[in-house]
Amino acid sequence: MQGKRVIVGVTGGIAAYKAAELVRRLVERGAQVQVVMTAGAQQFVTATTFQALSGRPVRDSLWDVAAEAAMGHIELARWAELIVVAPASADFLARLAHGHADDLLTTLCLATEAPIAVAPAMNRIMWANAATQSNVALLQQRGVQVLGPAAGDQACGETGPGRMLEAVQIADLIAPALQTQGPLSGRRVLITAGPTREALDPVRFISNRSSGKMGYAVAQALREAGAEVVLVSGPVALCAPPGVRRVDVESAQQMTEAVQRELPGTAIFIGAAAVADYRPSECAADKIKKTGDCMQLAMNRTEDIISAVAARADRPFVVGFAAETTAVEQHAREKLLRKNLDLIAANEVGACKAFDCDENALVVLWRGGRRELPSAPKLDLARALVALIAERYSEHPQAANHAAHG
Ligand code: C5P
Repeated sequence: MQGKRVIVGVTGGIAAYKAAELVRRLVERGAQVQVVMTAGAQQFVTATTFQALSGRPVRDSLWDVAAEAAMGHIELARWAELIVVAPASADFLARLAHGHADDLLTTLCLATEAPIAVAPAMNRIMWANAATQSNVALLQQRGVQVLGPAAGDQACGETGPGRMLEAVQIADLIAPALQTQGPLSGRRVLITAGPTREALDPVRFISNRSSGKMGYAVAQALREAGAEVVLVSGPVALCAPPGVRRVDVESAQQMTEAVQRELPGTAIFIGAAAVADYRPSECAADKIKKTGDCMQLAMNRTEDIISAVAARADRPFVVGFAAETTAVEQHAREKLLRKNLDLIAANEVGACKAFDCDENALVVLWRGGRRELPSAPKLDLARALVALIAERYSEHPQAANHAAHG
């Protein structure tokens, strides 16, 4: 699914360097970005930077015959689903407020029906000037979203309001407008990922080789499919995918509690975590000292999180994973039935398979069905799996229930 089409307008100001980071963040969130620079912006940063980050040649002139032949400015104004101008200089805000069309960016803003957001950036006295304030008020009245500015140190050496917001803040503020409609739009999905750590004493724990990569890739694919995603994660060296809310846990017990807390309103639960099956019967208060040649460890079963979710009367659609070293499909089908899952994704794990690898292959099973998803990079595989989950979920009674409640 293609992301939203966004024009990022860059005007002349020192904060133009932050626009490069903004483009990066928007692309990361799946947006298709076309950068449009004013003449002033080109005094601060080069078009090459933006071209590399957006993957599209930068537009900067109304009079560029070749660019206009490829996509005329009226066509470009129609193409845009959102225009965000960052930084927006005092001069640009004035020209926008008064309906000028004396360069490509102002012309696009005048010729579009897409929403417009501006992130002002200027010296604090220029910001406070009555002319600027009245232009901003006028723009707001007309529905232009004004993002910031923040107060603080300024590049000119002064301190006060006028600093452009950081790129991540701008990306967060316009996130609702970037939301694409997908097969899971309006659905809340709760997913567990990564390993758990079961403490033996204050410094030692028992864990496993799960990197969390597959679960995180699935979380990203779910978000791309329009879902609201909550990721309950064991300790991993990964960043949460953009737009995904992460809840950090360590032990199986903490994961159980987080899942119970986050479950209300969940349409689909996915257990991608490699949860410890046993935990040490007790966690020593102090570091355990070495004594004899051999040490016995008493362990107790942990709660099976996914089975507990699937056993509830108000259960969501439940998807499990099965990492197996032998008889993959047979074990997975047995787990599908025993844990009362709606779908299970099985893969073979071993010395160099699946765990901490960037590629994986899956066999997906459900009652009365089966599909093989061949070896692919984890994100591609996750997208294929999410498409299949959405397909199976839509045919399930839970989907109708959640639509009725949602
Ligand atoms: O029984 P096994 O661990 O092989 O089952 C794997 C599936 O069960 C995975 O979806 C995993 O996230 C889930 N699981 C769980 N809680 C446990 C153990 C496994 O949710 N304590």
